[in-house]
Amino acid sequence: MTRLDYAIVLAAGEGTRMKSTTPKVLHSIAGRTLLGHVLAALDDLSPKEIRVVIGAGREQVEEHLSLVAPKAKTVLQDRRGGTGHAAQLALADASKTGTVLILAGDTPLLSGSSLTQLIAAHNEGGFAATVLTAELPDPTGYGRVIRADNGDLVRIVEDRDASEVEQAIEEINSGVYVFDLAKLHGAIGKLSSTNAQGELYLTDVIEILRKGGDRILPVLTPDSVEILGVNDRVQLAECAALLRDQINDQWMREGVTMIDPTTTWIDATVEIATDAVIYPGTALSGETTIASGAIIGPRSTLIDCAVGPGASVLESYCVGATIGKDAKVGPYTFLRAGSDLATGSRVGSFVEMKNSTVGEGSKVPHLSYVGDATIGTGTNIGAGTIFANYDGVNKHQTVVGDHVRIGSDTVLVAPVSIGDGAYTAASSVITEDVPSGAIGVGRAKQRNVLGWVLRKRAGTLSAKAAKPNAEKGKPTS
Ligand code: UD1
Ligand code: CA
Repeated sequence: MTRLDYAIVLAAGEGTRMKSTTPKVLHSIAGRTLLGHVLAALDDLSPKEIRVVIGAGREQVEEHLSLVAPKAKTVLQDRRGGTGHAAQLALADASKTGTVLILAGDTPLLSGSSLTQLIAAHNEGGFAATVLTAELPDPTGYGRVIRADNGDLVRIVEDRDASEVEQAIEEINSGVYVFDLAKLHGAIGKLSSTNAQGELYLTDVIEILRKGGDRILPVLTPDSVEILGVNDRVQLAECAALLRDQINDQWMREGVTMIDPTTTWIDATVEIATDAVIYPGTALSGETTIASGAIIGPRSTLIDCAVGPGASVLESYCVGATIGKDAKVGPYTFLRAGSDLATGSRVGSFVEMKNSTVGEGSKVPHLSYVGDATIGTGTNIGAGTIFANYDGVNKHQTVVGDHVRIGSDTVLVAPVSIGDGAYTAASSVITEDVPSGAIGVGRAKQRNVLGWVLRKRAGTLSAKAAKPNAEKGKPTS
C-alpha cells in the first residue's frame, strides 16, 4: 500500500504556445482534459489531499475541478514565479512530515501504476527525494539530469541554463517527483532565481538536498512515452494518438476486434466487452458502453450510448441512446438523447430519433423523424413517417401500440395515439386517435381526370406515350 499524504499538481502556467482562450490543462484528449488525465492517475494512489496550483484561466480551471475532482483543493499563484514558487505556495500550510508527490497538469500519459511504483520505491528506501527521469532521443527543452560517476543524481539543469556538454545529455527530468515533506520544507525556502528565466526552479531543490547530505533516488522510466507533456497543439495531437494506441491495445488484449485501430478513437471513459467488433472510422466517447458481440462502425460516432449484446450500429451518429440486445441501427441513422431501442428492434436509413422508445422487435426502417414517441412491440413504422411532435410552441407525445402498421408517409400529429393492432393508410395525416384494430385514413380521396395530359400537354412525349384509349375516357370534371 502506497502511503501518500499530498499530491500537488502544478497547473498555473499560461500555456502560451497553445494559442488558445482555453487554459492549456483544459484541452481534451480521449474524453478527458489534460488535467483530468492527471487526476485520474492520482485516483489510483488515494492521496490524503490533492492540491492544484492554479493561475492562468483560474475561473475555468476551478469550475472544471469542481466537476471532476470536487475534493481537490486549489492554491492560487497569481504571478508566474516558477515551479519552485508554485510548490512553495502549495506547501505553505502542509503538514511538516509525510510524503508528497509533485507533478505537472500537462502530462496526460502518466499512469497510476508508474506513480505507485515511484512512491513505493521512494518510501521503501527512505529517500529525501525521488525523481522520475527518462531518456529521450531529442531532449531539447527539458531539464537534464546530471549524474556523478557512480550514477548518483547530482542536480538538474534547465535547458536554457545548460552548457553545451550538458545539453548533449539525453536523460531528462520528467517533472514528476516524490519528496519527504520534512526534507522538502527544509530545502524549498533556499531556492533562488539567479537563472536564465529569473524564476524559482523546483528542480534546484535536488542540488540543495544533495549538498545537505540527503539521498536522492533517480528512477529511469522504462516507458519514456508516459512522461510526454503537452505544450502546443502538435504535442496535443501526438499525445492523443499515443493515448488512442494505448487504449486500443488494451481493448484488443481484452478481446475486442478492431479492424483499423489507427482510425478508431475511444475515450478513456468507455467500456467494451469481449467479442465486440469495431470497424474503421469509429469514435466512442463519454460514458459509452458496448456489450459483447456488438458490431460498431464503420464510420460511427457514439457519445454516451449503451449498446447491448449482439447489436449493430453502422455508419451512424448516436448521442445518449440506449440500443438493446440484437437491435440494428443504420446505416445513416441519427439517434439523439433518450432514444431507447428494445431487443431486436431496428432503426434504419435516414431516420432521426429523440426521446422515444421502440419496443421489442419493432422497426423504423427508412426515412423517418421520430420525436417524443412510445412505440410498442412488433410494430412497423412505414417509410417516410413523421412524428409531428412540435406545434410551434410545445412538444407533445405520440403513443403507438403493439403490432401496429403505420402506412408509408404518415404524419402522426401529436398528441395522438394509435391503438394495438391498428393501421394507418399510407400518406395519412393522423390528427385523431386511432382505436385498436381500426385503420386510420386521413387523406383526400383520389380522383383521375381522364385525358388531361392529351388536352393540357398536347405534343409532349407524355402525351405521345399515353395510350390512345386514354383519350376516350371521359373527364371526371
Ligand atoms: C519543467 C522542469 C524541467 C522538466 C520539465 C518536464 C522546472 C524548472 N523545470 O520545465 O526540468 O524537464 O518540466 O516537463 O521545473 N507552473 C506553475 N507555476 C509557475 C511555473 C510553472 O504552476 O510559476 C506549472 C506549469 O503550469 C506546468 C508545470 O508547472 O504545468 C511545469 O512548468 P513549465 O513551464 O511547463 O516547465 P518546463 O519548462 O516544461
Ligand atoms: Ca512543460
